[in-house]
Amino acid sequence: MKKIVIAIDGFSSCGKSTMAKDLAREIGYIYIDSGAMYRAVTLYCIENGIFDKDNNIDESLLKGKIEEVNISFKLNPETKVPQTFLNGVNVENKIRTMEVSSKVSYIAAIGFVREALVNQQQLMGNEKGIVMDGRDIGTTVFPDAELKIFVTASAEVRAQRRYDELKVKGQSASFEEILHNVEERDRIDQTREVSPLRKADDAILLDNSHMTILEQKEWLRNEFERAINS
Ligand code: CDP
Repeated sequence: MKKIVIAIDGFSSCGKSTMAKDLAREIGYIYIDSGAMYRAVTLYCIENGIFDKDNNIDESLLKGKIEEVNISFKLNPETKVPQTFLNGVNVENKIRTMEVSSKVSYIAAIGFVREALVNQQQLMGNEKGIVMDGRDIGTTVFPDAELKIFVTASAEVRAQRRYDELKVKGQSASFEEILHNVEERDRIDQTREVSPLRKADDAILLDNSHMTILEQKEWLRNEFERAINS
């Protein structure tokens, strides 16, 4: 059967990765969480003194080190959930903290960071058979993707989902703090100069504010069947 590229973009915390991961598992495609790559670069910056105490980014220092930032994914053999590795170390939990969430959109707005990560993402999609989620997948990384989805939901719904997710992981954060982070990242992602978050003209819009995980999963599966048979 022919293999295609599936690009899933949208606002923060709207369940893109859940649906992308589920679909990839069902259809035997590779799943890549491009946001995890921007989060891993952000963690690298935190751990290597690239932020000063006022959270300013030393861009020239980062530029000199960006080649040293090696990001890869491996499936957890038991759960089959992809884990993010930074220079050989599993950082899956560390990249999901509020500290990383509060800094990542500033790192993701830097042109040379995006260039380096977009190159890697395009290589990953060379052979097709890939589901990638992010902000610029349908517009910049894979403008020729055969199936493009743009996901959104109200900010409150998204903040609640993120709150529940962090709670399950035992990480504490207030609902207000999360809502603020979600809105702030949306603003930075949409207004940055390089590859801002926007719906590709040929992407299908999905507002999943009132959908269950199962409903959105079925919706995506139908769109996949339609794309593969067209
Ligand atoms: O929190 P959520 O899962 O929604 O975000 P994420 O997918 O982990 O992405 C974290 C951040 O990385 C986003 O807020 C964007 O600033 C940035 N990002 C990006 O600029 N381009 C991408 N393709 C993916 C993420």
